[in-house]
Amino acid sequence: MSDPPTPTVIILAAGQGTRMKSDLPKVLHEVAGRPMLMWTVEAARVITSDENIAVVIGHQADLVRAILPTGIKTVTQLDQRGTGHAVLLALEEGVGSEGVVVVVPGDTPQLRGEVLEQLVDFKTDSSSGVVLLTANVEAPTGFGRVIRDTDGTVVRIVEQRDATESELAVSEVNTSVYAFDAAALREVIGDLKTDNAQQEMYLTDTVGLIRERGGVQAMVGDADDSLGINTLGQLADVDAVMRMRINQELMDSGVKILDPSRTYIDASVTVEPGATIYPDVYLQGGTTVADQAVVGPSVFAIDSEIGTGARVWYAVLREAIIGPRTEVGPYASVRKGTVADAGAKIGTFVETKNTHLGEGAKVPHLSYIGDARVGQNSNIGAGSITCNYDGFEKHETVIGDNVRIGSDTMLVAPVEVGDGAWTGAGSVISRNVSPGALAVERGNQKEIPDYAAKRKAKADDT
Ligand code: UD1
Ligand code: CA
Repeated sequence: MSDPPTPTVIILAAGQGTRMKSDLPKVLHEVAGRPMLMWTVEAARVITSDENIAVVIGHQADLVRAILPTGIKTVTQLDQRGTGHAVLLALEEGVGSEGVVVVVPGDTPQLRGEVLEQLVDFKTDSSSGVVLLTANVEAPTGFGRVIRDTDGTVVRIVEQRDATESELAVSEVNTSVYAFDAAALREVIGDLKTDNAQQEMYLTDTVGLIRERGGVQAMVGDADDSLGINTLGQLADVDAVMRMRINQELMDSGVKILDPSRTYIDASVTVEPGATIYPDVYLQGGTTVADQAVVGPSVFAIDSEIGTGARVWYAVLREAIIGPRTEVGPYASVRKGTVADAGAKIGTFVETKNTHLGEGAKVPHLSYIGDARVGQNSNIGAGSITCNYDGFEKHETVIGDNVRIGSDTMLVAPVEVGDGAWTGAGSVISRNVSPGALAVERGNQKEIPDYAAKRKAKADDT
């Protein structure tokens, strides 16, 4: 016997998502840093290949198409006349001509690929025309209810707005995830009516129609896996579920997370086993955290690398590379293009940008270092600033190895400080400093003896 054809997956993503009260198409709202539609695409990829996935788009179609992998087919539904209409258009374009057709809503990011796998297996083993994924929920408001016979067989689905009071009391809901027999679906899809509260073609009505022609079965799943997002409140709930999954997986792999409910790690981030994450940490984009690194409390890092054994706390990192055992914070803003080599320090109230700190280079307190190169083991005294901008252009500051920049030094770029040189505290350095030299730029200190007493006497006179 030959293998059955690989399943086709139709993802419904044409709607605006009016209940989100947002201009962004619903399916583009992010969950754990990834547009919700892409979670669904990833789940679909577990059961089939890209050429067997079709996404129905419509509202702001160009924006939605732009995030889809190129091998995935799109079907355009200009007027959103219901979930049944969306599937009808896909079938008319030749999608799902045989085998199993899985339909998934694009607003259900928590649906896992393995659940789709189970659903397809269930369908393959049964002769029924459709297997639907249902869930028992405490608060079924808004969902279609699954109506069963007294003997338990599924009869039909009724939408919230069309349901009677006794139907509304049913707690088993339609998740909008189905595995259809292609022939059965094609037979009934043209018979969908629009005589309902929303005057739309409901895909849910295929269930009643297929029952009359053969059979319907339900697979009862976990509510956490498959409840759609219609509002920003539900988006936040699902986001929490997805983040907890990510955190759980990381903890299982050996990452220590002190409070998973206050840890926000995007799906795109890598954290190596052996790292420790304190609360209120946001790791986004292509951020990576190496083993033995300790991150947080209160760190926001996007597209940044945190090296082995680095210590980063109360800090914002953007497109920065933090080397092994480097210390960042507390209270540091590490901006784009900062590269700190091993054992460097970006300390308290320090801002860096487009700057390379060599091994062991330290900027411990209250400094702005931008467009700079700082050599190995150099130390930048408290309150020092690279004056990199002359009002027209940015200029570079080059500091050699083993340099001692005195507190409150202004380095007026372009300027170079040679290896082993020193600058005196409070100096405004606008010319290059030779290696090993001390540069001081400071007015002589004057002293007026007994100033306080004289001042007081003058005041008493008047
Ligand atoms: C749908 C189901 C409901 C189920 C719920 C589960 C119907 C009629 N109802 O309701 O039984 O409990 O999902 O989450 O199917 N879409 C299109 N084109 C359209 C209409 C919708 O592509 O013309 C897409 C939407 O973008 C969305 C998905 O289909 O991704 C579901 O649509 P939505 O309006 O959210 O349906 P629900 O009211 O949630
Ligand atoms: Ca929905």
